[in-house]
Amino acid sequence: MSVTVKDLQQYKREGRRFAMLTAYDFTTARILDEAGIPVILVGDSLANTMLGYDTTLPVTLDEMLHHTKAVRRGVDNALLVGDMPFMSYHASVEDAIRNAGRFIKEGGANAVKLEGAGRVVEMTRRLAEMGIPVMGHLGLTPQFVNQFGGFKVQGKTDEAAERIERDALALQQAGAFSVVLEGIPADLGTRVTSVLQIPTIGIGAGAGCDAQVLVIQDMLGLSGEKVPKFVKRYADLRGEITRAVGEYIAEVESGAFPTAEYSYGAGAAAKPDQAERAIYGESRTPKAIKVEKVVRAVR
Ligand code: KIV
Repeated sequence: MSVTVKDLQQYKREGRRFAMLTAYDFTTARILDEAGIPVILVGDSLANTMLGYDTTLPVTLDEMLHHTKAVRRGVDNALLVGDMPFMSYHASVEDAIRNAGRFIKEGGANAVKLEGAGRVVEMTRRLAEMGIPVMGHLGLTPQFVNQFGGFKVQGKTDEAAERIERDALALQQAGAFSVVLEGIPADLGTRVTSVLQIPTIGIGAGAGCDAQVLVIQDMLGLSGEKVPKFVKRYADLRGEITRAVGEYIAEVESGAFPTAEYSYGAGAAAKPDQAERAIYGESRTPKAIKVEKVVRAVR
């Protein structure tokens, strides 16, 4: 049985913490789903991680849908959330409905995520009324990078903290099923979590949130050296890939790869069976075994 938005709300009631990760392709999505991650977000961070942009602003709706469809094919169990990219919901409620609908209908997402409050509160209400579950996103919302003057921690003053709390309550009231809190002081994360009935999903918002999310490239150690303070690296895949690729290059250059084990014979008859491999050696090619047979026969 797949995870639903109702399950996440039940987790909140039970005080059960949960994890969310981003994914942008079929292979990674399948691994995460099989590993038991309950929520997968096709984040607009794919602008950075997959497409190499400095901000999330350039990624288009069609690019997001292309990746969402790939992730959908890898996910059986997790709740799949599609991230509405910059300018796909900003001009009008109609745009928001049409484009959120594409995430569900074409991308196969179970829900969408929208950044900010203000007009987004009304969009959330309309989408929820239409059966499109909405995940809110407050705090250091990357689509506001130009407005914020950089990627800066938000909610540091009393007034800013109160606004984030008010916005979170407004999104909940409008029907959002959860809210991402990004880049805010940990005590504000705890405070917002305590006033909401829906789960908060923190990223750089402290341990008091109901759930946590990280970008998959960051937590697997695939990003460059410079990552935000809140990123914990659970693996060093960049180091492991560099080692593996270096070994492959060296083996190709020296001729150590491919051995017979990785080569095809001329036909079924020429392919050594297990008994022949035991007699003539595991790494002998079919041709070498044939020659060896002739040599042994004339001895
Ligand atoms: O785009 C993204 O990956 C996100 C998460 C970091 C919450 O919005």
